[in-house]
Order: sequence, then structure tokens, then C-alpha cells
Amino acid sequence: MQTKAIYTGSFDPLTNGHMNIITRAARLYDELTVGIISNPSKVPQFPIEERELMIAEALESIPNVRVDHFSGLLADFVNRNGFNVVVRGLRGGSDFEYELQMAQMNARLFNDHVETVFLMTDPQYSYISSSVVKEVHALGGSIKGLVPDPILRRMDEKLRSR
Ligand code: COA
Repeated sequence: MQTKAIYTGSFDPLTNGHMNIITRAARLYDELTVGIISNPSKVPQFPIEERELMIAEALESIPNVRVDHFSGLLADFVNRNGFNVVVRGLRGGSDFEYELQMAQMNARLFNDHVETVFLMTDPQYSYISSSVVKEVHALGGSIKGLVPDPILRRMDEKLRSR
């Protein structure tokens, strides 16, 4: 069976913590889609189309990964596109409660034979989130090594243009 996985998030911006999950998931599954979604509870720094371009640039060396974006229910996107695995990353215990609730709700909504699979983030990335990286960068701190270089370049450009 072809394994078609999706890893979703706001990715505003994509960090090296996300990269860690993506490179490992890409080794496990035949195809991996990075699915960007606007989270209505967050005001984005980069519009979704720009995020898609930035992420595609950061991932261009991984052949079985593609980038897409969607709105609405994750389960609808998964069912419509025939994904059989939804990958989520866990940074620590505090992610678990929320992830369990989402995975169980999604399980009701997914077609048969779709599984949510959790990968533990490598420990050097467990403290990273998109918001903390954005905040440090906006206040002049170095985030080199915390986001892929093409993403850092775009963040620098955005900051200079303000
Ligand atoms: N490395 C670094 N940071 C990570 C990470 C990792 N491995 N995993 C998560 N994070 C960070 C994210 O960057 C994000 O940071 P932020 O809050 O500062 O932006 C934070 O942890 C939370 O990540 P996540 O839970 O993936 O939130 P998100 O907003 O990126 O994505 C969706 C949430 C899109 C996955 C979820 O809201 C969704 O599926 N929505 C679709 C609507 C739907 O179906 N709703 C019903 C669900 S049951």
C-alpha cells in the first residue's frame, strides 16, 4: 500500500523543530504533504501564499515532500485527498492533552484506515515554537539555527521593510 501522509500546522514561520519532524516523516512514508492552514485564532506574520513559497524553498531538497494549503476541517481535507496518515509532533507532555483530544475527535471524522501518528521532537527543539522564534527575532535576538536559512532570510527582509 502507498503511504500518503500529511503534516499540518500554521508554520508562521516553519522552524527547525518542524523540519525535524518533516525529514523524519519523509523517511517513513512514500509521500508527505506539508499542509498549511490559517489558524483563525492567530494573526499571521506571513500570508498563507507567502508561507507556501517559503516552505517549498526550505524543503526543495527532500524529493517526496510537497507543500499545499487548505482551510476548513483537517478531516475533510484528509478524506478528500486520500491521505492515510496524519503526522503530529510532540515536544513534551504539555502538547499531549491537546493532541489526544484532536486525534480522538479527528478519528470520528476520518474515513476508515486513516491514523494519526506522533513523532517525538528531538530534544534540542523541544522549547521552540513559531511565536517564540518570531518574538526573539522581532526584538533583535539571533534565531540562527532555529529556522531554516531561507526562512530566516525572508524574516529579515520582512523586518527591514517595516
Ligand atoms: N517544533 C517546533 N514548534 C512546534 C512543533 C515542533 N515540532 N510542533 C508544534 N510547534 C509549535 C507551532 O509552531 C505552534 O507555535 P505557535 O503557537 O507559536 O504558532 C504551536 O507549537 C502549536 O502547534 P500546532 O498545534 O501544530 O498549532 P498550529 O496553529 O500550527 O496548527 C492545526 C493547528 C492546524 C493543526 C489545527 O488547528 C487543525 O488541524 N486545524 C484545522 C481545523 C480542524 O480540523 N479543527 C478540528 C480539530 S479536531
